[in-house]
Amino acid sequence: PTALTVLGIESSCDDTAAAVIRHAPPESPQILSSIVWGQTELHAGFGGVVPEIAARAHAEKLDIAVEEALAKAGVTLADLDAVAVTAGPGLIGGVLSGVVLARGIAAATGLPLFGVNHLAGHALTPRLTDGISFPYLMLLVSGGHCQFLLVAGADRFTRLGGTIDDAPGEAFDKVAKLLALPQPGGPSVEAAAREGNPKRFALPRPLLDRPGCDMSFSGLKTAVLRTRDALVTEHGGLRAHDRADLCASFQAAVADLLAEKARRALALYMADAPAQPVFAVAGGVAANQSLRGALEAVAQQAGAAFLAPPLALCTDNAAMIAWAGIEQMRAGTPIPPDFAARPRWPL
Ligand code: KG4
Ligand code: ZN
Repeated sequence: PTALTVLGIESSCDDTAAAVIRHAPPESPQILSSIVWGQTELHAGFGGVVPEIAARAHAEKLDIAVEEALAKAGVTLADLDAVAVTAGPGLIGGVLSGVVLARGIAAATGLPLFGVNHLAGHALTPRLTDGISFPYLMLLVSGGHCQFLLVAGADRFTRLGGTIDDAPGEAFDKVAKLLALPQPGGPSVEAAAREGNPKRFALPRPLLDRPGCDMSFSGLKTAVLRTRDALVTEHGGLRAHDRADLCASFQAAVADLLAEKARRALALYMADAPAQPVFAVAGGVAANQSLRGALEAVAQQAGAAFLAPPLALCTDNAAMIAWAGIEQMRAGTPIPPDFAARPRWPL
């Protein structure tokens, strides 16, 4: 295959991102630049991402992010072979910002334009970072997503199961809020859990015994709320060791749920005897050492290699979108001339 240089654009949630990747086989792909501008401070105090504020920030900054990505990569539009943009799923105002900008660039340059599924970007990242071959099993676990995907090709994904309510990152954030710990909740709950006893509180494991790979996390959050209220009533406030024990017990329940469902997803994947079995994780929650340890152990038991891309490529970024564009270009995925921006778009 020939060398490809592709610009990626991502604006589906609260990160304004642009990146340039060059891939000249047989060399490994090179991330020439990857700009990610977060919006955490803009949404602070609102208790979550405000779609209108996010859309405005993307609209104001996305073109500048693209200019910076090109400049940092040392390329101009004339050096590109294609443009790839997240076309969904996500907050539609932000997605539209990206799609409109990408359409403008494509119209001005005549470059092919790929409308990439954000989840496909996450799911193809292990090939960007580690060059692994299809098929592999992927757990996408973040503040917005939680699903097991069988990845068989650049545009061949099978969803084996996923959350039927909250994503685990959302549950960590809500638990942090309930226990007056700082946001984002994942890292602060993990830190508190390190000092706590995971066996102190018997929290529920929703859907654990149900067949299949579907998961549920919202009942867990409610159980944490009830336990907190009981502790506050009993002691007139939340003592530090109670908080730590509650965090540890919550995290242990999430670990049990993810590990058991991963065991089942791995069994489905391994049934086809893949030549080089890999279980990869991505998403912000994959940063959690204790969850990662539990998942790694399950992979080992099943005889699959465990892979977690570097955190900067696990969380939202545009390099994964540029890479998905390269993968789809090589796979000959047809490019619809007028793809739509989509708030919902299951793989
Ligand atoms: O992938 P990501 O950056 O953004 C999206 O959700 O798209 O994931 C962010 C989520 C937040 O909910 C955050 O609390 C969670 O990942 N997170 C963690 C940890 N670090 C981040 N959850 C558990 N443990 C962590 N160490
Ligand atoms: Zn994402």
